[in-house]
Amino acid sequence: MLNKNILLCVTGGIAVYKAAALTSKLVQAGAKVKVIMSKSACQFVTPLTFQALSRNDVYTDTFDEKHPEVIAHIDLADWADLVLVAPATANVIGKLANGIADDMITTTLLATTAPVWIAPAMNVHMYNHPAVIKNIETLAGFGYQFVEPNEGYLACGYVGKGRLEEPEKIVSLVTNYFQTQTNILSGQTILITAGPTKEMIDPVRYLTNRSSGKMGYALAEEAVKMGAKVILVSSVDSLTTPKDVQFVKITSAEDMYQAVMDNYQKASIIIKSAAVADYRPKEISNQKLKKKDGNLIIEFERTKDILLELGKKEDKPFLVGFAAETEKIDEYAWSKLERKNADMIVANDVTKAGAGFEGDTNIVTLYKKNHEKKELPLLSKNQTAKEILLEIYRDLKEGVKNANS
Ligand code: PMT
Repeated sequence: MLNKNILLCVTGGIAVYKAAALTSKLVQAGAKVKVIMSKSACQFVTPLTFQALSRNDVYTDTFDEKHPEVIAHIDLADWADLVLVAPATANVIGKLANGIADDMITTTLLATTAPVWIAPAMNVHMYNHPAVIKNIETLAGFGYQFVEPNEGYLACGYVGKGRLEEPEKIVSLVTNYFQTQTNILSGQTILITAGPTKEMIDPVRYLTNRSSGKMGYALAEEAVKMGAKVILVSSVDSLTTPKDVQFVKITSAEDMYQAVMDNYQKASIIIKSAAVADYRPKEISNQKLKKKDGNLIIEFERTKDILLELGKKEDKPFLVGFAAETEKIDEYAWSKLERKNADMIVANDVTKAGAGFEGDTNIVTLYKKNHEKKELPLLSKNQTAKEILLEIYRDLKEGVKNANS
């Protein structure tokens, strides 16, 4: 759990005292822990306890902005690798299931794209109430994970299901979760292309596209975290190259083609998230083009399709292409998978808010050689990258590529 960022949301019930033990055990296991408390939670244990145990500021109020350079609930939402709501009351479960965001915890929960785990704790009859059951089902449908409460003696005097799972057990579940994601790609070399290409017209002008490189850089960063060796081929220099990545700087589609062909035999996986120009000026002027009366006509010629060329190789690695589409997503994605002989296509509808170019989030659908299609919700680009890499890992493990190629 070393250096994993865990955001613990503590809501008000007697089990808050167990959340203090949970904080301590998470910190001892190497995690970085930040805590948000609801107003009711503060009735049971003071924020100072959590501050001392986590060695971080504790957040209780949406409007108490501790650092003027960031908005706290968005900053915490983005910081987290995992959000734990423990103990989770019927109230917070109900609010979240209905999209209510009226305090620091609920605004952060709606803003995060990290996985959220909910550990309920309440009276047995509350836990079995149809409204609570329905809200839990709704949240499970949204992809939230639950750490089920235990049966036993409850603070209200009843015996039944509703005790917060023991802190040791929660820590062991969290450790397991991170372990399954760490080093699963060790032994793999992944070649990733990121960002736009730039096609020179003359020494001062070029043709490019809206790609920022964020999606490809997120893939590189997450792949390294999962233990892979990464070769990143990109024209982008405005982003920080992730640590431990071999960076190959290119400019044009032709440069990218050369860099990929020079390196593809080192790679067991290639992910082509770059937005490559399909055309380039047939001639590049040696001198700056001077303006004249009338229109300027530039003749364009096709660039090489790198993904298509890779798909023809006998020794092709596991090949993942992207598809940036504005219509007929399914049709074009399946056809790219087939035509370019890829093992997976990651399609994004770049007309959707939160998807595609420039932003920090994406909404993608994976199309796989075994005819499976998997839709991912709106996630941060890092979280999207994690999901793509996990899917590649699963496919390689199950031999999907070998079975179908
Ligand atoms: O960089 P960001 O701002 O984070 O934005 C991310 C993104 C929108 C660029 C990314 O998610 C994405 O969709 N990348 C692929 C963009 C693209 O060029 O798609 P395409 O449908 O035109 O190409 C299909 C595939 O063929 C891609 O894998 C592309 O890299 C590859 N290709 C295309 C043309 C070419 N000459 N050679 C190629 O290898």
